[in-house]
Amino acid sequence: MTQTLTAIQRSLLDGRIIVNGDLHPEFDIPRGQRLLIISQDQSFLTHGFHKYPAKFFPELPRWLIRKYTDRGPVLDPMAGSGTVNIECLLQGIPSIAIDIDPFAQLLTRVKTTPLDEELLECTWEWIQAELNDRYPESHIMIPDFPGRDDIWFRQDITRELGIIKGAIERVPLAFDLEPRQSQKYKDFYYICMSSIIRAVSNADDHCTRTVVRKRLNKRIEKGDAFRRFIEVSRTNIQNMIQFSRVCPSNVQVEILEDSDARNTGLPSCSVELAVTSPPYINAVDYTRTHQLEMYWLGIIDPDDGPLAEMKRQHIGTESVLKKDYEDLKTFGLPSLDAVLESIYRVDPRRSFIIYKYFVDMKENFREIFRLLVPGGRYCVVVGNNVIRGHRIKTHEFFTEIASDIGFEVENYFVSEIIRHFIKVPRKERINDDWVIIFRKPTGD
Ligand SMILES: C[S@@+](CC[C@H](N)C(=O)[O-])C[C@H]1O[C@@H](n2cnc3c(N)ncnc32)[C@H](O)[C@@H]1O
Repeated sequence: MTQTLTAIQRSLLDGRIIVNGDLHPEFDIPRGQRLLIISQDQSFLTHGFHKYPAKFFPELPRWLIRKYTDRGPVLDPMAGSGTVNIECLLQGIPSIAIDIDPFAQLLTRVKTTPLDEELLECTWEWIQAELNDRYPESHIMIPDFPGRDDIWFRQDITRELGIIKGAIERVPLAFDLEPRQSQKYKDFYYICMSSIIRAVSNADDHCTRTVVRKRLNKRIEKGDAFRRFIEVSRTNIQNMIQFSRVCPSNVQVEILEDSDARNTGLPSCSVELAVTSPPYINAVDYTRTHQLEMYWLGIIDPDDGPLAEMKRQHIGTESVLKKDYEDLKTFGLPSLDAVLESIYRVDPRRSFIIYKYFVDMKENFREIFRLLVPGGRYCVVVGNNVIRGHRIKTHEFFTEIASDIGFEVENYFVSEIIRHFIKVPRKERINDDWVIIFRKPTGD
């Protein structure tokens, strides 16, 4: 297939393909090809509502969806901020989102739920009028959580956030909305509020972990929470209006709440295509990334127990128990076991973290194999990170693991990454993503 000449240029220097924006669905990427997709629309419609670590740029899942399915359903078993689901919706294809993280579930729900233009505009007028220092004390809603006043927030900012939260909570009362309807508008404004929390906190804005750095030269002014919330909400309202105008009304996005990529609870042979980017091993602590946002939104309550419990459920978690790495654990793949052994000598804990990651991902491959219809594809996008001086060739191990389960490798290529929200030391950066397309055989 000839991709339009304006969209693709072949770089003469290194043989990689550079794509400006969308890839044509009929374009067949040569096996092993390096590709640089220059994203044109990362904040298009609802895509830009919130920062999320290792988020897809929309062009990649859009191409995979257009190429490998025309009716779905499509599953993203580690959906994160819901990029795959938004793209499915815009293509008119039903989809399912699973993510262990309740914040990711909320974000995906908001980004895939159209809202009424008029109601958005009048609820916004109302909220905006509430945001002032004369707001009644009894309506201010400030959650209690560890370190709120002595580490994370200035008191005047806490008060402003408490007023914003109070106003959002009172929208249903002011407009007499029925509960399902009111929840949609509340969630939308909560995501607007969530997207400014890091910026108005004392924590570093550019790190996936929530940390306060002594030498961080961050200036926060009185009124910043109000100002930023108003700015973000205005932009998001415009984007939500555009999204709601083009969003088909009869296409389902199912967001499963109590599901796990390793054990979804979905029926066998019920999915035509799965597309995902699993977490990198030991790179992003998703629970800690959004801990302040989750406290403010009421998604987690400090009384529910330590965050470590939540973290343990995550694939790629570094929250492991000492007794688990008293002995060397081997996986059964000679190439992987050699890495595990070598790292165990210097860092038994990290060796176990890597081992557990592949055990969990094996369960995920087995589960997706069960869910796919014969001939269905599982497209996995993953980077190889460096741990204790070893570059872990995750894509190669995935290929071996998935092949053992019964998948065929239909294609693979490298997608170069330009932008990072993941801040890691330079030599440990993940500069390439591998895109591997696995196919469940038809049995013919
Ligand atoms: C790299 S992110 C996905 C980003 C996504 N592609 C996007 O565009 O936003 C990986 C996701 O895997 C999720 N995850 C980790 N362990 C999981 C599990 N056991 N089941 C489901 N999701 C899981 C994390 O919460 C995280 O949101």
